[in-house]
This record gives sequence, structure tokens and C-alpha cells, in this order.
Amino acid sequence: MSDAPKHKHLVFSGMQPTNTLHLGNYLGALKNWVKIQNDMPCIYCVVDMHAITQDVGYGRPAELAQATREVAAAYIAAGVDLKKSLVFNQARVPAHAELAWIFNCVARLGWLDRMTQFKEKSGKHKERASVGLYTYPTLMAADILAYKATHVPVGEDQKQHLELSRDIAQKFNNDFSVPDFFPLPEPVITGPGTRVMSLRDGAKKMSKSDDSDYSRINLTDDADAIAQKIRKAKTDPAPLPDSEKGLEGRPEAENLFNIYAALADEPRARVVAQFAGQQFSGFKNALAELAVAKLTPIAAEMRRLLADPGEIDRVLADGAMRAGAIAGPVLAEVKRLVGFLH
Ligand code: TYM
Repeated sequence: MSDAPKHKHLVFSGMQPTNTLHLGNYLGALKNWVKIQNDMPCIYCVVDMHAITQDVGYGRPAELAQATREVAAAYIAAGVDLKKSLVFNQARVPAHAELAWIFNCVARLGWLDRMTQFKEKSGKHKERASVGLYTYPTLMAADILAYKATHVPVGEDQKQHLELSRDIAQKFNNDFSVPDFFPLPEPVITGPGTRVMSLRDGAKKMSKSDDSDYSRINLTDDADAIAQKIRKAKTDPAPLPDSEKGLEGRPEAENLFNIYAALADEPRARVVAQFAGQQFSGFKNALAELAVAKLTPIAAEMRRLLADPGEIDRVLADGAMRAGAIAGPVLAEVKRLVGFLH
């Protein structure tokens, strides 16, 4: 934690309100968010501005608003504590967009050209992707640095974006001769759930955009759906290994063990030892039971919270007011450094 002494510890992270959240979002990020709240102050954002980079949602404002409420409800239902953490949606705090513009002028085209997520998301027809999708990582850097956040708990797939955030912070500090102005935010990528794979293909990440609903467990799935998806998950014919080494070259088995270990909060080696030599069917039954026990209470709490959308909107508005009070002075300092305020 190289910059710990210079900057107060502060956590920032976010999720996009696009489709429903899935087990990867929960194990890779959300579960760690809940833990880290006991160690440092946290800001958890629903990044609705990022959500329009692939689909602006022309004429469907209610859909985005509802998806934003659902993600906020998922945060709270999973254990984000509003007494310890701020929850709000990005678009309510203009500092994110303003700082992102300045960062667009700090970041180099070559840096963004290297972003693998843009390449994946834009597909074969890059020229048809929105400009917003391309500059997505500079907005992400602004999200974090508008608060001078020091720690960012995310899944493995965000690592490259965080490296870019550090590069932007470093270049800004150097170019404006303010060596410690922005912290270099630390990625917090921990535990066995940092890269949850598709249940249909152990080589593909579990993702909201996969066409097959059987590839993922949604946070809103009921017990039957969860159990069925786990029972149908792709496996191989060999019995279960007796050590972690035996998971090598068996991506589907490895994924299911990672999921079990992350859900149970147990070291993977212990889970492997527990099921050593058994058939997949028994392990899958145990995993289904565990997943149902851990996930269905979250879904139930989400439903309860979503029954009162006005209350969620109040939480978001209140969070935004408090977030704006932190980001405002940082942005004012940046504007002074750039020469916009004198
Ligand atoms: P998003 O909305 O794609 O994903 C939200 C979080 O879930 C993690 N995640 C996964 N973790 C493990 N296995 C998976 N299969 C999996 N799929 C997703 C992601 O790593 C992420 O932590 N760019 C971000 C949102 C963002 C952000 C930020 C994050 C915007 N600004 C500032 C941190 C800080 C994103 O698209 O996440």
C-alpha cells in the first residue's frame, strides 16, 4: 500500500445497471465490498453513465431508472450498510463527468487503444461503437479519483482499467507538478471468486451479456433455477480430484470449486479435500444447497426493498448529496490547477 501515509484510506467501487447482477458480480466484487466496510469508509456507486455506453436506451428512461434501483437494492440486500457506506448513482454527481473530460485530455490514445474490454465489447465493428465505450476507462478513473479513493475492490476483469486509472493519476500529478495530489488507487482483487466463469463453458467469463441464461446464476434467481443451473453446469467425466493440482486443465471443475470456496468463505484446498474422489453429482447437490442458502435471502431482501422505489430513490439522492460534498472540493482543486478557476 504505497501511498497509504499520504492519503486517507477510502474505498470506491461501482457496478453498471445493465441487466440483472449475477454470481460473478457478487463473488468478484459485492461480497468483498461488504467485508471491507469494516476497515475503511466506502463509496459504492451505481454507474449509470457507464451503462449507456453500449445502449443509450432511446425512449426507455424508466428502464434505466429501474435497473439503477435494482443494483442499489442488490448492494444493500447483500450487506452494504448505509451507516458505513455511501450509495448513489453516478449521474447525480456532475463531478464525475467534469473530471472525466479533463482526464480525456490527460490520457493518451495509445493507452486506450490497449484496453482489451473495448476490443471485446466493440467486436468486429469498432467504427460502430460509441465514443463513450472507448473513453469508458477515463470516466472510471474519474469515478475513483474524484474522491481520491485509495482502494478499489473489483473482479479480475477490471485490473487493466485500474492500471489505466493509476497511469492517469500519475501523469496528472507529474504534469501539474503536484506529486501527491491523486493517490495511485490500489486494486483489491481477492479470494477465489475474482473470476467466475460461465457454467456452460469454463473458458468464458460469467457475464450479463451471454445469450444463455444457463451460463450464469442471477442474483434474482429462485431456489429451483439456482439448483437446476448448477445441476446442468458443464463438467467432465473424471471423478473429483484429491488436491488443487488435480484441477489443472479442468476449467469447469475448477470454476465450481472456486464458487463453492467463495460462497462458503473457505480455502479452496479444504473444499477439494472434502469432496476428494467423489462424483460430480454429489458435489453439485452440495453446491446447489450452499448457493440457495447464500443467495435466496439476498433476492428476498431485494424484492422487499424494491417494493418501495421511493425509498431507494431517497437513498440515492441522499448518497449523491454526500458524495458531491466530497468530490466538489477535489474537482475545484483540479480546476484551479488546470486554470479553469482563478
Ligand atoms: P461491471 O458492472 O461489469 O461489473 C461489476 C463488478 O463485478 C465484477 N465481475 C466479476 N467478478 C468475477 N467474475 C465475473 N465473471 C465477473 N463479472 C463481473 C467486475 O470486475 C466488477 O468489479 N467498469 C466497471 C464499473 C465501474 C467501476 C468504476 C468499478 C465504473 N467505475 C470505478 C470500480 C471503480 C464495470 O463495468 O463493472
